[in-house]
Amino acid sequence: MSQAQNQEPQTELGRFETHYANWYEESVRDPNRFWGRHGKRIHWFEPYSIVNNASFEGNVSIRWFEDGTTNVSYNCLDRHLQENGDRTAIIWEGDDPSESRKISYRALHEEVCRFANALRDRGVKKGDTVTIYMPMIPEAAVAMLACARVGAVHSVVFGGFSPEALAGRMVDCDSSVLVTASESLRGGRRIPLKQSADKAIQIAVHQGLTVSTVFVVGERDHVPSFVEGRDVLYREAVETASPECAAEHMNAEDPFFILYTSGSTGKPKGVLHTTGGYLVYASMTHEVVFDYRPNEVYWCTADVGWVTGHSYLVYGPLANAATTLMFEGVPTYPNAGRMWEIVEKHRVNLLYTAPTALRTLMGAGDDYVTRSDRSSLRVLGTVGEPINPEVWEWYSRVVGDNRCPVVDTWWQTETGGHMIAPIAGVTPLKPGSATLPFFGVVPVIVDQEGNVLTGVAEGNLCIAQSWPGQMRTLYNDHARFIQTYFSTYQGKYFTGDGCRRDADGYYWITGRVDDVLNVSGHRMGTAEVESALVSHPSVAEAAVVGYPHDIKGQGIYCYVTLMGGVSFDDELQKSLIAHVRSEIGPIATPDHIQFAPGLPKTRSGKIMRRILRKIAENDLSSLGDTSTLADPTVVDDLVANRLASK
Ligand code: WTA
Repeated sequence: MSQAQNQEPQTELGRFETHYANWYEESVRDPNRFWGRHGKRIHWFEPYSIVNNASFEGNVSIRWFEDGTTNVSYNCLDRHLQENGDRTAIIWEGDDPSESRKISYRALHEEVCRFANALRDRGVKKGDTVTIYMPMIPEAAVAMLACARVGAVHSVVFGGFSPEALAGRMVDCDSSVLVTASESLRGGRRIPLKQSADKAIQIAVHQGLTVSTVFVVGERDHVPSFVEGRDVLYREAVETASPECAAEHMNAEDPFFILYTSGSTGKPKGVLHTTGGYLVYASMTHEVVFDYRPNEVYWCTADVGWVTGHSYLVYGPLANAATTLMFEGVPTYPNAGRMWEIVEKHRVNLLYTAPTALRTLMGAGDDYVTRSDRSSLRVLGTVGEPINPEVWEWYSRVVGDNRCPVVDTWWQTETGGHMIAPIAGVTPLKPGSATLPFFGVVPVIVDQEGNVLTGVAEGNLCIAQSWPGQMRTLYNDHARFIQTYFSTYQGKYFTGDGCRRDADGYYWITGRVDDVLNVSGHRMGTAEVESALVSHPSVAEAAVVGYPHDIKGQGIYCYVTLMGGVSFDDELQKSLIAHVRSEIGPIATPDHIQFAPGLPKTRSGKIMRRILRKIAENDLSSLGDTSTLADPTVVDDLVANRLASK
């Protein structure tokens, strides 16, 4: 052993600092060796002998640690009991500032075991799917971990989605068990979650789904229309269940969870992650990118309904025995200082949030920030959309008092964990850039024809080789998986994002290059909003595009043509907006609806979205050639009545 190895720094970060360049080089040249070593960061019941077995060609098959067995819940709980049983696993901060709770690893373990037994009592077994439709309360994490414990595949559906959206997701993955709550509390408002769940079940049953069990968090008196036999009070189930529950031994490649996300076409896709590689990747990125250190309080503001809530609120932190803070409410309630009050109250060391929240809070004024004590903060993170350099600077200067590195992390539901991100405290930062790839990640920038561009370049972002956290397939639709991600550029994973690489090799994500919108960091397919609009009886045709929005990043701009005899007025606009909200959820609320007597189409009938996008962005200088349109005159009307002309 060389002297340098003898004097290995004690922390993971120290080791990376010394070896970053070498480690990155090894990680991409010899992934078997690199991940063979780092795969051991989690506990395996049966160790793996095969590390990486993946191909992006042909039928696309991705396998990591494929002969090992493990269990996520065991890794997030049991493994920590001996040394860290009394450490706080979850700090829960309620919507109401006077409410908070701390749950130790020991207590969380017991609750998860009990609920896992309750699931088993209701017939849930390895491989079954369970849908979780919950507010931001600890029981959401308990439900996820309990599924992991018994080997059930969870599908968490964001609590803000409509009954229609929930029903579609339950039917797609044939989920006969639902975990929900009587209500959710956000910004002082009560949202009747169980009522939405009941409505969703009605729709799903109509489509042929059998729903056998609905676990409900909440008091019996508060649960509307309790269905005997089907509905089970969470609290009663947990109290009567045994606290002993052996964790199922799962193969590394057994399905772990499904998470529905929007694509450029059709209905949401069920992204499927498997067990071993996902956990190795989520936990390693959580520790390394944030430089998480034992006993620190870590707060990720994402909802459990999104992938960030999976990898960096629940699984990554808990696998690392971290203290993870879960916040039920919104950053502006009771006032715009709430986040900083929480930082002070719980002495938060690491904060991970989204640019859209920062833009809102920046607009509220610095006083809200500076009146709270933020001296505990050490690392600041962002995710979800490109962060404007001004917002980045504000985050660093005002929130972090110029002391805390800002880690801008680029990744996706599909990637399982961070892909391009700095290592806090190690990587030199540039405001607005996600900086450099994580270990094992090989980004390539390609042009429209698929040529790989080297050096300084701008184009479409692909990833050239597999990494452990990668999605394995789309649930029940491997053909669509290959079609969506591996057919645009043969042999490469296509991210759907545009990207620029500068002279220092730093990456700058420029946003989606497909028909996916990013509204307040939420992914939304234009096709989904369009199909919601055309399901309204007054709408004949709809085209939806994004346009720049100060707070949301992108706003939703809709063009609609109407059925004969229907006129466009305020009332119809309101009704269309309400309709989209009820079909998808409030996050899909259209920002602007424009009446279009006709849509710009090619002679073959294809809507020219490029033109619609330019009109919405008020960028009329680059409308391009409109002479090839079936009816070029429609453009004049759309231009004359565009939002910016109002
Ligand atoms: C965008 C969220 C720029 C990107 C983890 C990606 C980002 C999509 C960043 C995935 C970032 C995410 N900078 N853009 N740091 N992080 N994005 O699946 O367009 O909800 O493709 O995963 O968000 O969104 P998703």
